[in-house]
Amino acid sequence: DSHNSTKEADKVETDSLVYVGREEDIKRSQRVIASMNGREVVVFYYEKKFYALDSRCYHAGGPLQLADIEDINGQPCIICPWHKYKITLATGEGLYQAIDPTEPSATPKWKSKGVKQRIHRVIVDNGNVYVTPPDLSVSFDSDFYADKLKKTGGSIE
Ligand code: FES
Repeated sequence: DSHNSTKEADKVETDSLVYVGREEDIKRSQRVIASMNGREVVVFYYEKKFYALDSRCYHAGGPLQLADIEDINGQPCIICPWHKYKITLATGEGLYQAIDPTEPSATPKWKSKGVKQRIHRVIVDNGNVYVTPPDLSVSFDSDFYADKLKKTGGSIE
């Protein structure tokens, strides 16, 4: 019946989750690398929330597990250790500072370049942390380095 088929769909979804680690361990370490069918993902725990993104920066493949985290315009952002690009943790948007030329006295404002870094959904269930597999029908700039890392088995240079 329809009830059973709903249950079956839920089960398939749960089966496709990729285990990252124990909730309490990640809360302690605040960041961890996970592998999702060869795709490297970094999971952060920051100000009581979990976030997951492709581990290599969309700009040139910098290792985001080594990034500092700062609040910019009230949004938590990672600062790539290689060339200091700013990426929002929650949405994967690249941020840049812009000056409005029509307003000579204006101070630079933070603007979004759009989503550049692929983010992944984090699910916490019963003390375990999982990420969901990516929807590859949509592409993001960070896919290039995620695929490169996969092919080279862990090297970007
Ligand atoms: Fe991240 Fe250049 S590789 S800013």
